[in-house]
Amino acid sequence: MKTILVTGGTGFIGTHTVVALQEKGYKAIIADNLSNSNIDSLDRIEKITGIRPDFMKVDLSNEKECNLLFDTYENIDGVINFAAFKAVGESCEKPIEYYKNNMGILLNVLANMKRKDIKYIVHSSSCTVYGEPDSLPIKESTPTKFAVSPYGNTKQMAEDILHFTTNTTGIKAIALRYFNPIGAHESALIGELPNGTPNNLMPFITQTAIGLRKALTVFGDDYDTPDGTCIRDYIHVVDLAEAHVISMDRFFANKNKANLEFFNIGTGNGFSVLDVIKSFERSTGVKLNYTIGPRREGDVIKIWADTSFAEKELGWKAQKTLDEMTLSAWNWQKAL
Ligand code: UFG
Repeated sequence: MKTILVTGGTGFIGTHTVVALQEKGYKAIIADNLSNSNIDSLDRIEKITGIRPDFMKVDLSNEKECNLLFDTYENIDGVINFAAFKAVGESCEKPIEYYKNNMGILLNVLANMKRKDIKYIVHSSSCTVYGEPDSLPIKESTPTKFAVSPYGNTKQMAEDILHFTTNTTGIKAIALRYFNPIGAHESALIGELPNGTPNNLMPFITQTAIGLRKALTVFGDDYDTPDGTCIRDYIHVVDLAEAHVISMDRFFANKNKANLEFFNIGTGNGFSVLDVIKSFERSTGVKLNYTIGPRREGDVIKIWADTSFAEKELGWKAQKTLDEMTLSAWNWQKAL
């Protein structure tokens, strides 16, 4: 049985990935400082899979704490690195904190992988590395653009760090460029739980529908898109979790073709904000209160993935529809 260290493993994508790992026969160890997640994720994972993952509360941006983690667990075969600050707006207010935390975590993890001769890392990257695309759908080979936020820049810098460290350390890396992860596990035991007012569309929709927020504001309907609202490639978090497990399988089967590989993790379909609202209303039968507001600064107008490379190379393809995403997010919100 292979043992995978999952940093940030009590968070939204982390919990779903730990479930997927355990279901595929991997052993998971979670390292998380619980700054944006809850310890009861462990109970919830155990309820779904019957297995309680090992857990250590640790601030991985702190070198000593990170070293202690790797000294405590001597049998790690691979790492999935989710741990990071992730709020775009907040990163503009606190750029230094974002660089220190997100780069510090990655560097401390890589230093320990080298120290302990751990060969494989899957890193969570983002479609934000592409900026506003010049043509669509967007391929992995498309050059990245200047970042629009410090958060996005930490994702770009992480890919650069992985590029140069994998060339000299013997470590192999896969960077998964996520599009817009939404939805929740079918059990409704795990899902997205943002601190305070949500910045992202899906939790704002479900919190509005349940009565925690008065109305959703659609950020602009005068964009150059069919209905005037921005277009994204929404991906079910369960499909996304699966992509991490398949990436780990790829390493252990020696199928990786470069020291660092990149894959787009989306569905290949672009949906507008109004499409998501309609899907929510259709799948749940709940009417959503929303108004059209001004544009949000920094929003990309439209982006969706070319997923052919991930399909061909990784053997991964998203399975779930937008209606399944919106319904599962609602079931999670109701369970909360
Ligand atoms: N939106 C609204 N109202 C809201 C929230 C969002 O209309 O209350 C719109 C946004 O304007 C955008 C779409 O819904 O058009 C999706 O917005 P999200 O905030 O959910 O997602 P983003 O595409 O802005 O951000 C996501 C990830 C980031 C990542 C970014 C890269 O959350 O981590 O993609 O493009 F950096």
